[in-house]
Amino acid sequence: MSIKNKNILIGITGGIAAYKIAELVRMFKKEGANVKALLTQNALQFITIKTLETLTQNDVYVNQFKEAQTTVHISLEDWADVFVLAPVSANTISKIANSIADNLLTSVSCAILGTKTPVIIAPSMNVNMWNNKYLQENIKKLSERCTIIEPDCGYLACGDNGKGRLTEPKTIFEKTKEILDKNKPLKDKKIIITAGGTKEKIDPVRFISNFSSGKMGLALADTAYNLGADVHLICTFDTDKNYKVTKVQTALELKEELDKDFNNCDCLIMASAVADYRIKEYNNNKISSKDENLTLEFVKNPDILQEICKNKKKRQTVIGFCLGTEDLIQKASEKIQKKKCDYIIANEAKTALGTDENEVWIIDKNLEIKKIDKNSKTNIAKKILELIYD
Ligand SMILES: Cc1cc2nc3c(=O)[nH]c(=O)nc-3n(C[C@H](O)[C@H](O)[C@H](O)COP(=O)(O)O)c2cc1C
Repeated sequence: MSIKNKNILIGITGGIAAYKIAELVRMFKKEGANVKALLTQNALQFITIKTLETLTQNDVYVNQFKEAQTTVHISLEDWADVFVLAPVSANTISKIANSIADNLLTSVSCAILGTKTPVIIAPSMNVNMWNNKYLQENIKKLSERCTIIEPDCGYLACGDNGKGRLTEPKTIFEKTKEILDKNKPLKDKKIIITAGGTKEKIDPVRFISNFSSGKMGLALADTAYNLGADVHLICTFDTDKNYKVTKVQTALELKEELDKDFNNCDCLIMASAVADYRIKEYNNNKISSKDENLTLEFVKNPDILQEICKNKKKRQTVIGFCLGTEDLIQKASEKIQKKKCDYIIANEAKTALGTDENEVWIIDKNLEIKKIDKNSKTNIAKKILELIYD
């Protein structure tokens, strides 16, 4: 399994084995993963920021009140595909098992434990600390939610012999890969995603369209594929993917493709910008430019989202998008009631069109709203896809 482009967040605490993490970071980077390191102040006694900055090629995170972005604990939580805590001190284990969030690392841990992101914990400490009954109770508590990689037995840095040595970086590396591989919550789902602005033909050389880039739909399709889904992307642009892609141009072509495949899918996400109108009469020949003015007549395109939802089975989830310039939440709320889809993702034209980042509001059938703050379209895609798995 490839970990290329996976986002691995490594949490390092104040234990003597922290120096071993430099090797672990190198292993992840060598296989093309993105790595960010998050340290407690005490970890800095054992490994330097410079070492980790150089190896991760990223900023290193230590102090939550000094970071430029004050909600960094949330953005790191959103960013991570997996959170690897190694080495974890007895002190930090006990804090996170009890949701104490008194520094950046424990705040991020507290937030991540409230999500579906996999968490790996590799403790390391003196044998008597490890054998402490209360520490073991905290480990047991965390094992309900996290993968614990127990320490090895042997000679410990303090001179004692026994259980407590941080397991070898190679073991943590292999376990992380295994967990990323298993983390395919969409593996039994067939998902259709539409992307890009439709092109409504005027004549053989001209069309009318909109500014949709298709980046959100593409992020959804790639992320769904990485999460194990059987993806069918219906889009208005060329793209070479390992999943099924059907290129269409017009709203009517898009509808035709959807009608063919909708019954087979578990979920449809309509992230494309479908033109509301098309040219009434397509000109078989190129329209001459000899006249000063040109008038074109448009007719309404079918409301694809609304029509598809009429045929929606109970087992199917349909997610629509609403792009607006004003009164966005009100319009999106009206849209979900009218179209009867399961969710509407509301976003503003100024942040959504052609950009790599976006901010969105997820509105459900009960008109409950959840905002996803400004983030990469990939991270927004992850949050949207969480709607369709437990
Ligand atoms: C030289 C030295 C080595 C230490 N090694 C460990 C260790 O391996 N595991 C551990 O749990 N604590 C160890 N400690 C104690 C922790 O540094 C201490 O509990 C600290 O408060 C942990 O802070 P943190 O969890 O915020 O990183 C060590 C302390 C010293 C001085």
